[in-house]
Amino acid sequence: MTTGTDLLALSPVMPVVVIDDVDDAVPTARALHAGGIGVIELTLRTPVALAAIERVAKEVPDIVVGAGTVTSPEQAKQAADAGAKFLVTPGCTDAVLDAAFATGLPFLPGAATVSEAMRLAERGLSALKFFPAEASGGAAFLKSIAGPLPQLQFCPTGGITVSSAPSYLALPNVGCIGGSWLTPSKLLAAKDFAAVEKLAAEAAALR
Ligand code: 3PG
Repeated sequence: MTTGTDLLALSPVMPVVVIDDVDDAVPTARALHAGGIGVIELTLRTPVALAAIERVAKEVPDIVVGAGTVTSPEQAKQAADAGAKFLVTPGCTDAVLDAAFATGLPFLPGAATVSEAMRLAERGLSALKFFPAEASGGAAFLKSIAGPLPQLQFCPTGGITVSSAPSYLALPNVGCIGGSWLTPSKLLAAKDFAAVEKLAAEAAALR
């Protein structure tokens, strides 16, 4: 079975994607994949998000599609029903954690402090999202906790750019990083999927 740690190995960058027009979902996923990215986190922030996940899961089987911004137990179940292959949460409550476990899907729960990370490790999780990365101490924070928490791998997300990405990817406890810069809303609104592919190729070459 795929684990959270396996998810971190799919690409150096996990694109965090907000889809406003459901028709953009498949071409966006195809462009990311053509650029060399193997994974996509579709955020549950728009009314079409679940439909977008469903389409990508069916029509772009080569990319691993997950649901991001899962903030309630209901959303965890809905995302799994829509065909999401994994779940990502910005932070974690016991209810969301229980619901995520109940789906049987691999998931990356969010943590921003040492105690949050330790609590998730106690529940058997070894791959976490570090969110919001830049605002919570950035690469320096992750570097500082690699010693005391060597069993944990992170996907830092939030405020990371193509320029700051290498400082994270150089850390032993970073499996991949997350970011929305590969799919800016401007490019999606303009249906400029060739530009998305270029950004994806640049991101895929980061490691
Ligand atoms: C997320 O939900 O993970 C973040 O909003 C992505 O952060 P970014 O837009 O700063 O990359």
